[in-house]
Amino acid sequence: MKVIPMAEVEIKNDAKTVKVPDNSLLVDLDGKCTIMFACKSGSCGSCKCKVVSGMENLEKPDDVEASGLATFGTDPADRLPCVAKIKKGKVVLEY
Ligand code: FES
Repeated sequence: MKVIPMAEVEIKNDAKTVKVPDNSLLVDLDGKCTIMFACKSGSCGSCKCKVVSGMENLEKPDDVEASGLATFGTDPADRLPCVAKIKKGKVVLEY
Protein backbone atom coordinates (compact mmCIF):
# COMPACT_ATOMS: atom_id res chain seq x y z
CA MET A 1 0.00 0.00 0.00
CA LYS A 2 1.36 3.37 -1.05
CA VAL A 3 1.17 6.12 1.57
CA ILE A 4 0.47 9.59 0.16
CA PRO A 5 2.47 12.24 2.04
CA MET A 6 0.08 14.81 3.49
CA ALA A 7 0.70 18.44 4.31
CA GLU A 8 -1.27 20.22 7.02
CA VAL A 9 -2.96 23.59 6.79
CA GLU A 10 -4.20 25.11 10.02
CA ILE A 11 -6.83 27.81 9.63
CA LYS A 12 -6.72 29.87 12.82
CA ASN A 13 -10.16 31.40 12.21
CA ASP A 14 -11.74 27.95 11.98
CA ALA A 15 -9.63 26.46 14.79
CA LYS A 16 -9.06 23.40 12.63
CA THR A 17 -6.40 21.72 10.53
CA VAL A 18 -7.02 20.36 7.03
CA LYS A 19 -4.79 17.73 5.45
CA VAL A 20 -3.99 17.94 1.73
CA PRO A 21 -1.51 15.92 -0.35
CA ASP A 22 1.99 17.39 -0.55
CA ASN A 23 2.38 19.80 -3.50
CA SER A 24 -1.31 20.73 -3.47
CA LEU A 25 -2.69 24.10 -4.40
CA LEU A 26 -4.28 25.61 -1.31
CA VAL A 27 -7.48 26.09 -3.32
CA ASP A 28 -7.98 22.40 -2.47
CA LEU A 29 -9.17 23.79 0.89
CA ASP A 30 -12.29 25.13 -0.82
CA GLY A 31 -15.28 23.62 0.97
CA LYS A 32 -13.13 22.40 3.87
CA CYS A 33 -12.65 25.79 5.55
CA THR A 34 -14.17 29.27 5.70
CA ILE A 35 -11.63 30.99 3.45
CA MET A 36 -13.67 32.77 0.76
CA PHE A 37 -12.66 31.69 -2.73
CA ALA A 38 -14.15 33.57 -5.67
CA CYS A 39 -12.11 33.83 -8.89
CA LYS A 40 -9.73 30.99 -7.96
CA SER A 41 -7.20 32.56 -10.31
CA GLY A 42 -5.36 35.12 -8.17
CA SER A 43 -7.17 38.11 -9.64
CA CYS A 44 -9.83 39.18 -7.07
CA GLY A 45 -7.98 39.09 -3.73
CA SER A 46 -10.95 37.62 -1.84
CA CYS A 47 -8.97 34.63 -0.55
CA LYS A 48 -6.05 36.69 0.78
CA CYS A 49 -4.63 35.20 3.99
CA LYS A 50 -1.74 35.95 6.27
CA VAL A 51 0.80 33.19 6.81
CA VAL A 52 1.27 32.99 10.58
CA SER A 53 3.93 30.27 10.29
CA GLY A 54 5.28 27.84 7.72
CA MET A 55 5.96 30.26 4.85
CA GLU A 56 9.02 28.12 4.09
CA ASN A 57 6.68 25.23 3.31
CA LEU A 58 4.95 27.15 0.51
CA GLU A 59 6.25 27.48 -3.04
CA LYS A 60 7.38 31.03 -3.77
CA PRO A 61 4.64 33.09 -5.49
CA ASP A 62 4.52 32.55 -9.26
CA ASP A 63 3.93 35.49 -11.64
CA VAL A 64 0.14 35.25 -11.27
CA GLU A 65 0.22 35.31 -7.46
CA ALA A 66 2.92 38.00 -7.38
CA SER A 67 0.71 40.19 -9.57
CA GLY A 68 -2.30 39.60 -7.29
CA LEU A 69 -0.25 40.31 -4.18
CA ALA A 70 1.07 43.52 -5.74
CA THR A 71 -2.56 44.64 -6.03
CA PHE A 72 -4.17 43.16 -2.89
CA GLY A 73 -1.32 42.33 -0.50
CA THR A 74 -0.63 44.68 2.36
CA ASP A 75 1.91 42.61 4.30
CA PRO A 76 4.90 40.44 3.29
CA ALA A 77 3.14 37.52 5.03
CA ASP A 78 0.10 37.78 2.73
CA ARG A 79 -0.59 34.97 0.23
CA LEU A 80 -3.39 34.04 -2.14
CA PRO A 81 -4.38 30.44 -1.30
CA CYS A 82 -6.21 29.96 -4.62
CA VAL A 83 -2.89 30.00 -6.47
CA ALA A 84 -0.38 29.18 -3.69
CA LYS A 85 0.99 25.66 -3.40
CA ILE A 86 2.13 23.89 -0.22
CA LYS A 87 5.23 21.74 -0.74
CA LYS A 88 5.04 19.72 2.47
CA GLY A 89 4.89 20.14 6.23
CA LYS A 90 2.57 22.58 7.93
CA VAL A 91 1.40 26.11 7.32
CA VAL A 92 -0.79 28.21 9.61
CA LEU A 93 -3.07 30.76 7.94
CA GLU A 94 -5.45 33.42 9.19
CA TYR A 95 -7.60 35.88 7.30
S1 FES B 1 -10.06 33.59 -5.04
FE1 FES B 1 -9.64 35.41 -6.15
S2 FES B 1 -7.56 35.84 -5.65
FE2 FES B 1 -7.97 33.94 -4.70
